[in-house]
Amino acid sequence: KEVINIGLLGFGTVGTGIVKILTENAGSIAQKVGAPVVIKKILVRNPKKARGSKIDADIVTDAAEVIHDPDIDIIVEVMGGEQPAKDYMLQALNAGKHVVTANKDVVAKYGRELFAAAEKNHVDFLFEGSVGGGIPIITPLKQCLAANQITEVMGIVNGTTNYMLTKMTREHLDFDSVLKEAQAQGYAEADPTADVGGWDAARKIAILASIAFGTRVSLEDVYVEGITNVSLEDVDYAKELGYVIKLLAIAKRDDQGISVRVHPAFIPATHPLAAVNDVYNAIYVKGDAVGETMFYGRGAGSLPTASAVVGDIIDEARDLQNQVSSRILCTCFEQTPIYSVEH
Ligand code: NDP
Ligand code: HSE
Repeated sequence: KEVINIGLLGFGTVGTGIVKILTENAGSIAQKVGAPVVIKKILVRNPKKARGSKIDADIVTDAAEVIHDPDIDIIVEVMGGEQPAKDYMLQALNAGKHVVTANKDVVAKYGRELFAAAEKNHVDFLFEGSVGGGIPIITPLKQCLAANQITEVMGIVNGTTNYMLTKMTREHLDFDSVLKEAQAQGYAEADPTADVGGWDAARKIAILASIAFGTRVSLEDVYVEGITNVSLEDVDYAKELGYVIKLLAIAKRDDQGISVRVHPAFIPATHPLAAVNDVYNAIYVKGDAVGETMFYGRGAGSLPTASAVVGDIIDEARDLQNQVSSRILCTCFEQTPIYSVEH
């Protein structure tokens, strides 16, 4: 192909980052792919909204026909929410287009359906940006650690709440003002209840557990407790005792079954997870062959998340250019749980 055309669904925090990376690193990306990767159309809710990015206004549209544009090779969904995002992705897969997304709500709930559509249409469905922001974690679990029996995946997987808890601890700022700051930084979901209520972390750990343990773990299987009841007094009390409060997501497998949970926890100030601050995430993975591994980096934000999404775009564009598929089927989303889930 002379050019790989992208249809971008969403031009907010993450969409803007994707455009910036594809524009600023266009030369090196074209070299890696073997052809320029170009954004052909961008779908938004309000095309009249003023946008900071230097893009041709003509490519911004509110017409969902973008999905069916025959010149578009890859649909990148960064709109958020369950609908219409899920239907748009399904339509794109059924139209024979590869799909890349950062939407954990849809992957956690409809992953199985989307994988089935991708398989049926011989296209790919990639979602590295859906967990851990810029941290590579989906591909390592699917591919690099595939030799292992994974027994544990745990850590900090929500940037907003980690940013909030860090600010509450270090600067003694109250819950509402640190939440506003996290929203202003572009870390929070459109409805931040998902962040502070622990649901965002629950969706992410459900995705990771599904891949790590090779069985379908749904949101309903996860015990969820967020940070809405964590006060400045709790944070101070923890500090006095030599602890910090962190929102942990934990998935374990043993002979008895699988347990998956999200809740705030007191962590000794000397523990490595206590040093994971601000918007950073850290994810430990324990495998029988590899032992312990840890993945660390910015868990949310425009450019870090766009870094993961553009990584998937390049992967896909390269395959298109070379007329090969490096698809690793995510069969984990297709099975029903074979283990009991304990809370
Ligand atoms: P934003 O709210 O900043 O942007 C959403 C974009 O999608 C906007 O451009 C909006 O249009 C467009 N949009 C929303 N609904 C529709 C619709 N029905 N039809 C057409 N366009 C629509 O979201 P983010 O960029 O923060 O997040 C996008 C996705 O990435 C979400 O799934 C989120 O969970 C995920 N994600 C976000 C991270 C982050 O740090 N922000 C990190 C990792 C994943 P308009 O501009 O006109 O309003
Ligand atoms: N709201 C999410 C977070 C975005 O704060 O972690 C990244 O998935």
